[in-house]
Amino acid sequence: MTDTSETNRPSSAETGETAGAPQSPAPQSPARTHDQPLSQRVNNRSRQPANRAFREFIGSGWGPRPSGLPPLDDAAGWAAGRRAALGARFPGERLVIPAGTLVTRNNDCDYRFRPHSAFAHMAGTGTDFEPDAVLVLEPLTVPGQQLAEGEPTHESVLYFRPRASRTSQEFYADPRYGELWVGVRPSIEEVEAATGIRCAHIDVLGDALAKDAGAGGVQLRVISEADAAVTALVNQVRRSVGLAEGQAAQQTDDALAEAASELRLVKDAWEIDQMQKAVDATKAGFDDLIRSIPRATGHWRGERVLEGAFGAKAREEGNGLGYDTIAAAGDHANTLHWITNDGPVRPGELVLVDAGVEVDSLYTADVTRTIPVDGRFTAPQRRVYEAVLEAADAAFVRANEPGCRFRDLHAAAMEVIARRLEEWGLLPEGVTAADSLGPEGQYHRRWMVHGTSHHLGLDVHDCAQARREMAMDAELAPGMIFTIEPGLYFRADDLRVPAELRGMGVRIEDDVVMREDGRAEYLTAAIPRRPDDVEAWVSGLIES
Ligand code: GLY
Ligand code: MN
Ligand code: MN
Repeated sequence: MTDTSETNRPSSAETGETAGAPQSPAPQSPARTHDQPLSQRVNNRSRQPANRAFREFIGSGWGPRPSGLPPLDDAAGWAAGRRAALGARFPGERLVIPAGTLVTRNNDCDYRFRPHSAFAHMAGTGTDFEPDAVLVLEPLTVPGQQLAEGEPTHESVLYFRPRASRTSQEFYADPRYGELWVGVRPSIEEVEAATGIRCAHIDVLGDALAKDAGAGGVQLRVISEADAAVTALVNQVRRSVGLAEGQAAQQTDDALAEAASELRLVKDAWEIDQMQKAVDATKAGFDDLIRSIPRATGHWRGERVLEGAFGAKAREEGNGLGYDTIAAAGDHANTLHWITNDGPVRPGELVLVDAGVEVDSLYTADVTRTIPVDGRFTAPQRRVYEAVLEAADAAFVRANEPGCRFRDLHAAAMEVIARRLEEWGLLPEGVTAADSLGPEGQYHRRWMVHGTSHHLGLDVHDCAQARREMAMDAELAPGMIFTIEPGLYFRADDLRVPAELRGMGVRIEDDVVMREDGRAEYLTAAIPRRPDDVEAWVSGLIES
């Protein structure tokens, strides 16, 4: 990658649109290297000009700038509704929702930025917007104030670091934020136009958080895991105005995280559309992955070939992967989180692929297909596959029954799995499927230790901070999106199963939406899942 040495990180005061005046040259490096702090030594590789003439020269002679923030598929109106719903839970309080910051991968290389999901949900912004941004829901009322029907509780303000002037040092010398390094970043006006949210410079965030804060005044809550620096700033404000800190503050913050998580349990129509787009792109990724099977079987670590084929499509069609792809051939399928993907792909084996495209709005699919490498299931493979499929179908049927609770999906799938394992003589001597399904049994779980379903959305395991009664124990409701993903895993060293089943793992994972009329519907209906359809899918793509 491009050498970032010699780039002096400017202070934010140097980067504002008004900061046009050239600065004095950067101080010279100390003559003796051992006096120089380690953190500055990355700049020792070369030097970058900082003189006035150069800065005037590099800052001049440019055409108009393109917009730094394309609007995201009409997200703004939907996001406004979500902010109103969150605000209504905490009237009179200041709610702080950071986007997060760039994370160092190693030395001076950062990971690609991916905003925190609570921020993406509430701001309605997707890919890449915007390291260090902070959304604040600013109270319009005082706690306890009676509100008229429909009266807004908060005004949203989005604090971020707008692009700097082309005559600033940031423009050419800052590899994290500078336009010549990372491209045009948006202005305050552009973000206001795209999001419909009032915007302000991140430099005034500290004052804004402290305004009227205190016991008897405005209380603060922050999504504390999103950005350690913002959480520290909130805690500093709490300390300075006498608000509770420590465990009490954490409880205050946890209640915000919980509410933000629970608000995502039911997706709005825009989110459902984004999820369908994610699934459609995932189908295209699986198609390309299947086309790459002949190359994979000829490669010494063919699993990487499969991973790469899917990953390329994910980047072409979306923001990327919603999670690391599992491309697990043969016995590797029995390692549930097999993301090493460095094994061979052999004809005659199954390959379990668990992969999802995250689209630009950051919603992700989560799909697993178990595919015969040479396009035909053997008899034992088909037997296991059909048992898993039957379990998945049973969960889907249950989802369509009125009053179905989230945890009933797992129960429905496990009834099938336990029954099949009993038929195959795999449960302990004298133990029936019914015994196994009881709390003192659960023997069948030896071959499927994971759950059957989870909510899906901006996070692959979405709504993870929701309370049990809102998640596991809740009835399915229109707008919920979740997976159904039973499996059976027979390790090569599992002496409790017949030899013909050893070294085989099968999972079938689909994404399901609950419609307004209470029907469950597959978002993944276009991705083949019945064994004959899977065989036809493979042969159609490889032989054509
Ligand atoms: N891909 C993660 C999961 O299926 O839950
Ligand atoms: Mn899943
Ligand atoms: Mn999955």
